[in-house]
Amino acid sequence: MDELRIGFGEDAHRLAVGRPLLLGGIHIEGAARGAEAHSDGDVLLHAVADALLSAWALGDIGQHFPDTDPAYGDAPSSGLLRDALALALGRAGGLRPRQVSAVVTLDRPKLGPHRDAIAARLAELLDLPRDRVGITFKTSEGLAPDHVQARAVVLWG
Ligand code: C5P
Ligand code: MG
Repeated sequence: MDELRIGFGEDAHRLAVGRPLLLGGIHIEGAARGAEAHSDGDVLLHAVADALLSAWALGDIGQHFPDTDPAYGDAPSSGLLRDALALALGRAGGLRPRQVSAVVTLDRPKLGPHRDAIAARLAELLDLPRDRVGITFKTSEGLAPDHVQARAVVLWG
């Protein structure tokens, strides 16, 4: 019986004018651009969902929930996250997510004011206390100004 598992996930999209910016299920009001994607482009939820699957060697979200499937196309990625969590819990032998640590890289806008809302929503989706969800924001220092990216680690225990 495993006592610990860890999963890592990543996602990135190009930024496009006229798209909403969604991060962790939160709509970032006033953002000039959002992710260009078939899905809602929520890179943070996608990175966390991939981390959930990876901990159990279950492949990735593109394999299980293709964004060409109307069920996952423009639908909120919170549904995809819940489905990935259910799949992973089915393999987890009673273990469950205990902690999430994620980094979002985006030059603009500033995300600091949204940190609590994003972390609270992720905590709710994963049934975790708020203090088990760490969210870091980074700029790319101008190296990737047209790009939004998230990376996430999930610990299971
Ligand atoms: O990437 P850098 O080290 O310059 O980020 C400095 C600060 O800016 C950090 O405190 C980070 O939380 C914040 N930040 C932010 N929104 C972003 C990128 C960084 O609030 N989109
Ligand atoms: Mg820096």
